[in-house]
Amino acid sequence: MTAKDYMAREDKYGAHNYHPLPVVLEKGEGVFVWDVEGKKYYDFLSAYSAVNQGHCHPKIVNAMVEQAKTLTLTSRAFYNNVLGEYEEYITKYFGYDKVLPMNTGAEADETAIKLSRKWGYQKKGVKDGEAKIIVCENNFHGRTTTIISMSTDPDAKAEYGPYTPGFVVIPYNDIPALEKALEDKSVVAFLVEPIQGEAGVFVPDEGYLTKVSELCKKNNVLFIADEVQTGIARTGKMLACDHENVRPDILILGKAVSGGVFPVSAVLADDDIMLCIQPGQHGSTFGGNPIAGKVAIAALEVIKEEKLEENAERLGKIFREEFRSIKSDMIELVRGKGLLNAVVIRNQPGKTAWDVCVAMAEAGVLAKPTHGNIIRFAPPLVITEEQLREAMDKIKAVFKKFE
Ligand SMILES: Cc1ncc(COP(=O)(O)O)c(C=O)c1O
Repeated sequence: MTAKDYMAREDKYGAHNYHPLPVVLEKGEGVFVWDVEGKKYYDFLSAYSAVNQGHCHPKIVNAMVEQAKTLTLTSRAFYNNVLGEYEEYITKYFGYDKVLPMNTGAEADETAIKLSRKWGYQKKGVKDGEAKIIVCENNFHGRTTTIISMSTDPDAKAEYGPYTPGFVVIPYNDIPALEKALEDKSVVAFLVEPIQGEAGVFVPDEGYLTKVSELCKKNNVLFIADEVQTGIARTGKMLACDHENVRPDILILGKAVSGGVFPVSAVLADDDIMLCIQPGQHGSTFGGNPIAGKVAIAALEVIKEEKLEENAERLGKIFREEFRSIKSDMIELVRGKGLLNAVVIRNQPGKTAWDVCVAMAEAGVLAKPTHGNIIRFAPPLVITEEQLREAMDKIKAVFKKFE
């Protein structure tokens, strides 16, 4: 089969809810992926930051394979001998009393929403059914019906109504707007991405998260950080919140918690909040399964063992410096933190972000446009300086070709 055949088959039998670049991948190792014709690429998407530890990391894959041969799924109807080990590991790792294990990022966000509402009714004394959660314009928290109810992206939201009520939308990075929204005493939580990833890597002003944390505390409102994309060393610290040393009341993790080999997500909180949910009130058949536990422990160990926070911080600076040195009127701006970066393209006919991504793929670097004119650059955090510079040379040659 040729690449064309593979693409035609997906197109024929799969729903058309994605628009992939015309590349068919069959193998991955570290920062590289190979297509079905054997062509090698730098992966500068990392499966939307799920593959921070690099493709097919041997330690993580081995943890999965070993556990898969022993016990895969018990459901939570019974205890198993791995879940407690994982729960102890991840709660100590991030400094919370408890974890609630789920699978996807969206499920973890849903869990945080439900948990904060329960807390609002049981602890804050909000009248049942009236809890409100403040969220930000251009947020991305996943694809469920409740989550798209708080989205402001027409693509994500249109024609999926009726929508779940109980959300107040304010502009991102806007403290006065938050202060005003917090005047409503039925507000139980503020749910925010410390850097808006899907929106195009919007980094808020320095001090924003500190102020958010203070205001939430002052108003007895839970500060929920969705670190599904920004967490696990992506931005140069273990959590993007660590850049300002703020501690969310509820922390949402996903994607790279598993190094991209298995769907694992997690909600972390202290007892006062987490114990508002009692047996039978929430759950997931696969959440907390033994494979997920072993995989997540290995994936989190790799982050520390390979010092991926430091690598992301150092190489992120080089990436932005190098990109800003490219002389091209196609580049409007470069922004980001650590190895989560975006380049905004001045779209012109034949010179759009999509055209740039297709040309980069031909040159051996994979990245994906978002919102028409933004390209996200997020390589696996195991990338070396030499590899980064080689990839940058390829990217520079692409921009030169467009001149
Ligand atoms: C910040 C954030 N939250 C939640 C999600 C949803 O995760 P999933 O696709 O695993 O449901 C994403 C995915 O991109 C995300 O970036």
